[in-house]
Amino acid sequence: MKDNQKTYLIQNYKRQEFSPSKGRGCWLYDKENNRYMDGLSGIAVNTLGHNHKKLVKAISIQARNLLHVSNLYKIQTQEQLARRLASLTGLDKSFYCNSGLEANEAALKLARKFGIAKGIKKPKIIVFENAFHGRSFATMSASSGKKSRSMFGDTISGFVRVPINDIDAILALEKNYCNIVAVMLEPIQGEGGINISKNNFLKRVRKLCTSNKWLLIFDEVQCGIGRTGNWFAFQKAGIKPDILTLAKGLGSGVPIGALLVKEQYADILGPGDHGSTFGGNPLAMQAGLTTLDVVEEEKLLENARNRGDQILKRLKSELKNYPHIVSIRGIGLMIGIQLKVDCSQITKIALDNGLLVNVTNSNVIRLLPPLIISQREVEILLSKLILSIKTFFEK
Ligand SMILES: Cc1ncc(COP(=O)(O)O)c(C=O)c1O
Repeated sequence: MKDNQKTYLIQNYKRQEFSPSKGRGCWLYDKENNRYMDGLSGIAVNTLGHNHKKLVKAISIQARNLLHVSNLYKIQTQEQLARRLASLTGLDKSFYCNSGLEANEAALKLARKFGIAKGIKKPKIIVFENAFHGRSFATMSASSGKKSRSMFGDTISGFVRVPINDIDAILALEKNYCNIVAVMLEPIQGEGGINISKNNFLKRVRKLCTSNKWLLIFDEVQCGIGRTGNWFAFQKAGIKPDILTLAKGLGSGVPIGALLVKEQYADILGPGDHGSTFGGNPLAMQAGLTTLDVVEEEKLLENARNRGDQILKRLKSELKNYPHIVSIRGIGLMIGIQLKVDCSQITKIALDNGLLVNVTNSNVIRLLPPLIISQREVEILLSKLILSIKTFFEK
């Protein structure tokens, strides 16, 4: 093998034969300038699409001014983003890191310390089937998927797992365990296959957490920041968590993670208990602030709702006679099409048709386009997607 054909990368991803060299709006281009509709946004990351003028300008100015400074010093943009997120979420204080798993790791540490301080030596956290919270030891242990966990030896104990939307399963745990300290869930499961928690379930879980003094942790790493047409997916249920984790779409492409908590839990993590070298650096904070500004200025929540309805309506009408379709579901621009069969191949077929989507949980085609997508672009996306699904069934 010639040296220029050899890869120097560890093969921990199943990559497609596609190498984007630039992005503009909802489109990605390869080096021959072929264009591809981005129906995935880097898995819910590129909230503002690619090369958004305002974001590029803001982070360019920030890069010229100050890229990084240690958390040993005061970072004004961190204060600004924390204030902004407090007003959008109804929570009070933030900690910043660089990714979803880090935000969740911080939430899990906080929940355990909260329990241990109450005298619970071995705190347990209720988590869910099909959940995905990250790939560190703690977040992997909180995630579903025994098979992937078993490769790595001992995992972190202290999690009990139940199905979503099953309040009786939680009530049974309430009866049988006296050491539960928190419930952690994604209001809409992303990697698990776009599984939506019912409003009523979320409300009952909120009540149970309040009456038992358990912390309610919502992981909105994938479903937060306007993706569902609300700023946060939990807002559809009219309740509030005690702890919220964010990442992906908050930076629109610049790595960022955030943990938000209610005032009364904000002092649980004190100096030295947790931290991050890069977390909350001025570049990431500027990306976060600008993303929130643009979502507001360009009315992207409304757009997510309208474009989401447009997608669901057309998919339901065009695919209604396909017997292999189990369900077409989603809220805003977080949409899944579940098939009866493994449909991983659709990723490649769609790519050949100039569309980026992915398949999660082996049989759910997942759509997460940028929130800036226009009505016309949705039509293009749908034509490419429907063609790809039909081709898959004809093969
Ligand atoms: C709901 C959820 N939580 C956590 C994570 C982990 O985030 P990261 O890959 O940034 O560590 C993901 C990633 O897909 C996610 O979807």
